[in-house]
Amino acid sequence: MIVTCIAPVNIAVIKYWGKRDEELILPLNDSISATLNTDQMHAKTTIMASPSFKEDRMWLNGREVPMDSPRIQNCLKEMVARAERAGAVRYSSLAACRLRVCSENNFPTAAGLASSAAGYACLVFTLAKLFGLEGDISGIARLGSGSACRSVLGGFVRWHKGSAADGCDSVASQVVPASHWPELRILILVVNDAQKATGSSVGMKTTVETSELLKLRVAECVPARVDSITEAIREKDFRKFGELTMKDSNQLHAVCLDSFPPLFYMNSVSHAIVNFVHLYNATDLQVAYTFDAGPNACLFVLEENLPRLVATINHVFPPGNNSTKYFQGIPVAVPHINEDVLKLGMEPKEAGSLKYIISTRLGAGPHEVPDHLLTTAGEPRSATT
Ligand code: DP6
Repeated sequence: MIVTCIAPVNIAVIKYWGKRDEELILPLNDSISATLNTDQMHAKTTIMASPSFKEDRMWLNGREVPMDSPRIQNCLKEMVARAERAGAVRYSSLAACRLRVCSENNFPTAAGLASSAAGYACLVFTLAKLFGLEGDISGIARLGSGSACRSVLGGFVRWHKGSAADGCDSVASQVVPASHWPELRILILVVNDAQKATGSSVGMKTTVETSELLKLRVAECVPARVDSITEAIREKDFRKFGELTMKDSNQLHAVCLDSFPPLFYMNSVSHAIVNFVHLYNATDLQVAYTFDAGPNACLFVLEENLPRLVATINHVFPPGNNSTKYFQGIPVAVPHINEDVLKLGMEPKEAGSLKYIISTRLGAGPHEVPDHLLTTAGEPRSATT
């Protein structure tokens, strides 16, 4: 039996930062994210089950990796337990089988983009298809990586922190489907940066242990923001949505700075992007930024305002002279810079400060595809080792 699926990246607009249970990956606060379209960025996973395989094996982006990591094993165990409880028909015929798993991202993992969320969501979604398991799988994806639980659904998604000790109510639900806000466009600004930041899991542990500010964020700021942004999304109120998104990104990086030792995820180019957006928005809030645990920016903008924004980005952050296409993803026309924008007094930055830009939009979530990454013998079609 063989199944292949693709799953999306998600970008949080109200951030998850801090766990109350490390093992079960239970968060301190609710979070809300936008699921990106899989046409531009996705993880793709093929899983094959056969009684003739001697052992479980897994390949990730062309390299064989051990399958015994606790997070992968937790996902597998929970999936099997659920399948057994539900009496999933296909699962019973798989009990004697071993698995081959092959997974790839169609975007560079090195770019520091949210690859583990897409990867774990894809693993769990594909396993559920293979086992014939129906129903919500967000709680299983959560065991792989917290943010992965939001990638199993499309549109805007809320991860409820829940209150049960076993995590059974720490699951994701859809706020609105992608079709609710088709005018919303998303640009990922990939910052040229070689520095390897502290991973999110380690970073958030330091914050939980040391930051005073995190207590205020969890108790007061996030609950109010989750309600307000849900309303803004439902009403398609871009200004309100954009302001809350930027404020919450800033607060994430403020609690990182309040950690001891402090955590720096944004760099000087990220700060230049923040300044750029605030200058650009001087008279009207038309673009909003958010940053995760790395220097790359994710910008939200309404389609009608996209050409002017793209022209201005191209002027202020000119491409370097490498061969990478500067604007990738959904094709964007880059018009000449508008005179009124030049008056905002934005000086062009050093060429090549950004590696490239991915243009995308909201997407509908994971789905099955017909082309497999494994041969009929269970070997990866393309592998480097
Ligand atoms: C900054 O989900 O990667 O992207 O649960 O330890 O795997 P683990 O962490 P992870 O953290 C994501 C943090 C964030 C904010 C967010 O996506 O909400």
